[in-house]
Amino acid sequence: MVVSSNGGDVYDWAEAVKEFDKAKSGVKGLVDAGVTELPRLFVHPAEHLQSNPTDPALQPQLPTIDFAGRRQEVVEGIRKASEEWGFFRIINHGVPSETMDAMLEGVRRFHEQPTAEKMPLYSDDSRMRVRFNSNSALRENDSASWRDILTCVFNDDHIDPDLIPHACRQEVQEYVKQMIRLRETMAELMSEALGLPSDYLSNIECMKSEAMACLYYPVCPEPQKTLGTPKHSDTTFLTLLMQDAIGGLQILHGGQWVNVPPVPGALIANIGDLMQIISNDKFISVEHRVVAQPVGPRISVACFFTPSMSAAAKPFGPIKELLSDENPAIYREFMFRDYCQYYKIKGQDVSSALPHYKI
Ligand code: OGA
Ligand code: NI
Repeated sequence: MVVSSNGGDVYDWAEAVKEFDKAKSGVKGLVDAGVTELPRLFVHPAEHLQSNPTDPALQPQLPTIDFAGRRQEVVEGIRKASEEWGFFRIINHGVPSETMDAMLEGVRRFHEQPTAEKMPLYSDDSRMRVRFNSNSALRENDSASWRDILTCVFNDDHIDPDLIPHACRQEVQEYVKQMIRLRETMAELMSEALGLPSDYLSNIECMKSEAMACLYYPVCPEPQKTLGTPKHSDTTFLTLLMQDAIGGLQILHGGQWVNVPPVPGALIANIGDLMQIISNDKFISVEHRVVAQPVGPRISVACFFTPSMSAAAKPFGPIKELLSDENPAIYREFMFRDYCQYYKIKGQDVSSALPHYKI
């Protein structure tokens, strides 16, 4: 806090961020300390907080794809949902519910450990394969959001298991195995949905690495003033998301915020910016957010798929087989490395890199 010359309080954003990071205890640390008022750093401007006036019962429903259905129907369902929604629910996906429940419990165990256990992992350094933080990449005067994150990065499907915190090591390893298996299925189905040979997406290794975000949204004392996760689109190729029973995820569909209520046992798949680029805008990467709530904690796990190490060193661009005189390339080719760098430089300012790569 800085006192201005006229004696009034002036909010010092940089100081607030410094104080918050110094504690290394995240949002959960604030809740444990008994905050009853939302700290100013977390207050979002009113335009971030708009909600949908439509009665949730009358809102459009996210499409559900049943993997137990006929293959042709599954492929067609994915094509339609990826073109019109960018998001869909999947059921009968083969990930055992015990593995899902155990993962949610493992994530809870990690975040609910004494702060001293988590502190050594508190970092913004994206080179760390495993890190704990809350609001990374904030740019000046950005509002912070009401959640903590444990991130585990698997390059080419691999991580040194000893790096994963003990509190959830087994659960993370088991869960990622299932995500990798489901990724193979998704790659085949999405290749077919694009009208390409089944092994196309697998061959270009665009989803061969994973970054797993294990999210923890504590109970919020003033949920109407902040967000759990601010509006964004995923920068990756594909995301597979698991959420617990609390709810709060919303996607921007038809210009309105539409709720994505939890369905037991279901997973959510969503198209990332990179998939929108290589599909030349056939599949869409859609903005979404998580509202803050007076109930919780809410736990979710987002598995983001990115290229293999070798594919990251080659250029990506719209898939040639999809292009024609009627459908010319909308985006130029670029290196995945530079794409990541672009986000690092721009931080939260940029809602999406798509316009930057337009021809
Ligand atoms: C994300 C995300 C949604 C959720 O981490 O990119 O959109 O439900 N998470 O936590
Ligand atoms: Ni997201």
